[in-house]
Amino acid sequence: MKLLKNLFLGINAREARSLSIPVPNELMRDGERRNGMPEKQKNGALVFARNFIAHPQMLGSAIPSSSFLINRLLGKINWGSTRIIVEFGPGTGCFTGEILKRLRPDGTLIVIEMNPAFVRHLQNNIRDPRLRTFQGSAENVAQVLECAGIQNVDYVISGIPFSTMPPDVRTAILKSTSSVLAADGRMLVYQFSKKVLPHLQQSFSRVETDFEAFNILPARLFYCEK
Ligand SMILES: C[S@@+](CC[C@H](N)C(=O)[O-])C[C@H]1O[C@@H](n2cnc3c(N)ncnc32)[C@H](O)[C@@H]1O
Repeated sequence: MKLLKNLFLGINAREARSLSIPVPNELMRDGERRNGMPEKQKNGALVFARNFIAHPQMLGSAIPSSSFLINRLLGKINWGSTRIIVEFGPGTGCFTGEILKRLRPDGTLIVIEMNPAFVRHLQNNIRDPRLRTFQGSAENVAQVLECAGIQNVDYVISGIPFSTMPPDVRTAILKSTSSVLAADGRMLVYQFSKKVLPHLQQSFSRVETDFEAFNILPARLFYCEK
């Protein structure tokens, strides 16, 4: 808690909320004190933090991605022509909700999440006919798409922690991702380190790198062309 308070010294409540972290009472305006964060966002942050304590390696972070990171990464998508997006590791859905806001009405978003608690959270909190939620590992993306009757996808968005997973699992995920992307499809990746870069360069023809400082922790982004 002390650490969180120290983190807040340089930012105000609005900025704190955009980083998806609970706002301490003393930083809130009067009318906000009881309900400073929207209930859904607060629940999501709590579910996320609780699951980080139980599965630190699977999550890789104790706090959902910030709106700065989400906007930077989603700004890379050509929304007019995009019909199918796959998201690996949606967690409590901070990217998922924003993708659905931007996705065309006839689009489809497939999310693949390993943690059953997050799958339940998504199913209870996001009701959208364009969203299809699957529990399991991103390694199974080809089977998931077959089951959904989809041949290839425009974008895969991934925040799963590549640097802490077994190398054979990472290789399998990158190989199957490349195989399900359309010819002009892209994989958009966010991580807390650059360790995955050589593996992405092996699996994709071109990888552009980017950086977002306003996230806990600051994030590396990789835009990969098939
Ligand atoms: C860093 S969290 C990102 C959560 C959320 N997308 C965000 O931006 O805040 C990583 C997520 O990936 C999930 N995950 C980890 N390994 C996975 C795998 N092999 N397949 C699918 N999901 C995985 C975790 O359960 C967790 O929800």
